[in-house]
Amino acid sequence: MTTLKGVNKKETGLFNVYPRFDITPVKAKGVSVFDENGKEYLDLYGGHGVISIGHSHPEYVDQINRQLQKIGFYSNSVNMPIQDELAQKLAEQSGYPEHQLFLCNSGAEANENALKLASFHTGKKKVVSFKGSFHGRTAAALNVTDNTKLSAPINKDNFEVEFIELNDKKALTEALKNKDVCAVIVEGIQGVGGLDAPSEEFFNFLAQSCKEQEALLILDEIQSGYGRTGHFFAHQYANVQADIITMAKGMGNGFPVGGVLIDPKIEASNGLLGTTFGGNHLACAAGIAVLNTLKKESLSENVMQVSNTLISELKTISCIKNIKGKGLMLGVEFDFPIKELRLKLLNDYQIFTGASANPNLLRILPPLNVTTEEIMPFAQALKNLLK
Ligand SMILES: Cc1ncc(COP(=O)(O)O)c(C=O)c1O
Repeated sequence: MTTLKGVNKKETGLFNVYPRFDITPVKAKGVSVFDENGKEYLDLYGGHGVISIGHSHPEYVDQINRQLQKIGFYSNSVNMPIQDELAQKLAEQSGYPEHQLFLCNSGAEANENALKLASFHTGKKKVVSFKGSFHGRTAAALNVTDNTKLSAPINKDNFEVEFIELNDKKALTEALKNKDVCAVIVEGIQGVGGLDAPSEEFFNFLAQSCKEQEALLILDEIQSGYGRTGHFFAHQYANVQADIITMAKGMGNGFPVGGVLIDPKIEASNGLLGTTFGGNHLACAAGIAVLNTLKKESLSENVMQVSNTLISELKTISCIKNIKGKGLMLGVEFDFPIKELRLKLLNDYQIFTGASANPNLLRILPPLNVTTEEIMPFAQALKNLLK
């Protein structure tokens, strides 16, 4: 049986921080990943929710190839019409036509910049975040992440953060009452934490409270965004507007791209934010291919259709306790730890799934163009394994 063992042993020269499956993917197409022996895996996890339009989507490969033939990189010191094109398409498709785009390279970097902007704009430094949250591993993003195990001594005693329970209106009111908070940061749906989400009522209360108490609302849509829940961003089912939205993962379908959508009331000035690689030509080509494909293939509709069919099927499996999440960001909860089940799905059925902070929850984040036929073997495998 494949075990979660480290294969990057010291002698390889790699700094060994990842428990890895002993699998070596060499090719991938759509929802399939192939190892060096040609063995096919069904990828329902997309390398932590990154693969949005499917592995090696033809438009993605074509856009990046064509861009590479022209120019792969130049820094942000010159005109880059491809950035304008990406910003324009995002404005049209995201439901945030007035927000402005800052491009960076990862989720943590997007949150780092979002928090900095909130502090620049309000002149304040306290932040409210939520229990169970994950926002990344750089200094500010880590400080608002509810996991002290990830902090080094250098990360301690950073700016003040108050962690409150999701959906606790009283705690939110209390935390914001002194008007000393620059931002509240919240995930559209918690990913690493285990698929808990703000209710529609709480989202509305949160947006309103932030306005009243002069704090900015930062929506971390790094995992839950880009059509994954059927809406462009997960929070949009609640019909609230965020001041700042952070994006990464599915935005580049594997190419490292991060982004921050910023309310125009927050003023840009030279040098306020910056990055060497962010928004480079290849990253933008990848981002444009993703947005084009989301639209052309009506992926939000596909997400809802496949999700509804899968959920109906999963509901027939009696030992599933709960199905959390929305669209194709789902957590299947059992009343026992899923570690063995997850390994069996991988070893016996060649299906990649994910875990979370909740040991009883199996997480799935498949490409948004997965079909019902492609995803159903997952339900069948669960039935076989759990009978
Ligand atoms: C909600 C959320 N925010 C931020 C991050 C950090 O993103 P990255 O690993 O690209 O820095 C993640 C990564 O899992 C995430 O799920």
